Amino acid sequence: MSERAYDRDRLRQFLSGEAAGEGLSRRVVLRLMGAAAGLAAAGTGTGAGTAAAAGRRGIVKPLPAELFTVRDTNAETNWAALRGTGYYTPVDRFFVRNHTSTPVLDPARWRLTVWGGGLRGRAVEFSYEDLRSLPAVTRSECLECAGNGRSYFAAQQGDAVTGTPWTMGAVGAARWRGARLSDVLRAAGLSRRAVDVMPRGLDPVYTAHGTDYGHVRRPMPVAKALDDVLLAYEMNGRPLLPDHGCPARLVVPSWVGIASVKWVGDIEVSDRPLFSPWNTVFYRLFGSAYPPGGSPPLTRQPVRSAFELPLGAVFAAGRVHRLTGRSWSGGGSIRRVEVSTDDGATWREARLHDTPRPGGWVRWSTSWHPYEPGPARLLARATDTAGTTQPFRAVPNEQGFFFDAVVRHPVRVV
Ligand code: MTE
Repeated sequence: MSERAYDRDRLRQFLSGEAAGEGLSRRVVLRLMGAAAGLAAAGTGTGAGTAAAAGRRGIVKPLPAELFTVRDTNAETNWAALRGTGYYTPVDRFFVRNHTSTPVLDPARWRLTVWGGGLRGRAVEFSYEDLRSLPAVTRSECLECAGNGRSYFAAQQGDAVTGTPWTMGAVGAARWRGARLSDVLRAAGLSRRAVDVMPRGLDPVYTAHGTDYGHVRRPMPVAKALDDVLLAYEMNGRPLLPDHGCPARLVVPSWVGIASVKWVGDIEVSDRPLFSPWNTVFYRLFGSAYPPGGSPPLTRQPVRSAFELPLGAVFAAGRVHRLTGRSWSGGGSIRRVEVSTDDGATWREARLHDTPRPGGWVRWSTSWHPYEPGPARLLARATDTAGTTQPFRAVPNEQGFFFDAVVRHPVRVV
């Protein structure tokens, strides 16, 4: 079944009451959806978690101001800090998206339990050593939050949305090493009956505005799980840092970052469709442009671009400047990147510095010779191999996901 058909099917099943999963009845989910709509109406973020409430940031690694902008329990990479860093995002500046706080787990004591009606037999436990003894594979993949760019809904379009007000720094590219999820599932006794696979994190339960949503968990179809998903234990050649999922996390290529569950403690393999708040209440599109029940759960990331510059960067008039940036897409490889320095009146193709490939980003550059002092805006727009070009306006949705429009990056010429 294609991903699109799967998504439509799950939405239909969910709306017609066929939802299963950890006692999460349709009635309960509909109530939670009501609560989420209430959050939207109240204009409060869905990203506020227990760590922030307790006055702790909940992130272990240092967050120097030149590398990160801290947003509640999350840390956004400053794009200016990527200039000259090479293809992969160094781990010291890789964004962190935590619903609550980073748990510090000891790999020697960690266990992964794989269980459920989609297995041939009983639950199976894996230790860190067991995981490392499976064939190791390395994949180079971008990881990105579905809410990346969210603040531009308000800043560029005047749309009121809720959630962490990221600019464009909730994305990074890394070399992930680990076991194939398919090998883990087969070693656990995957049966032909298996339909959905749901990993669950060991971080504290997520509560917001009086609702306990439980541990972060998010189902995916068994077809995706068997295709290209990793259970990673290394990032850029080093064991995962606590903030990025130590001892092990999922890496689900091209999909919304929420699917890449960190600190995995158990994986349910089900013979029935699974649902959780993270594919029913959150990470779907609600609003006037969508059906009353909302969109299907979000899977593939949209096309996006960013300049390796701070917002408000200053340029000297009468000189040639080299502009650099990156573009990426969950829908395929990047085919073309165009840059405009006159508010979209004219466009010039940027020079690509990487061979475009699915799941990765491309670095690009172009030159700019500003003459007139004053404010200016720099625009970059990418087109992927699926033929999708970044639009001028993103379709608004209540929780501010999938901002894919061309960003009008403000700069100043002096
Ligand atoms: N997994 C758990 N257990 N808890 C979380 O809060 N956040 C998800 C995902 N996996 C999350 C999680 C989201 S929304 C994103 S975008 C990515 O992790 C971020 O991964 P990173 O923090 O390593 O950059």
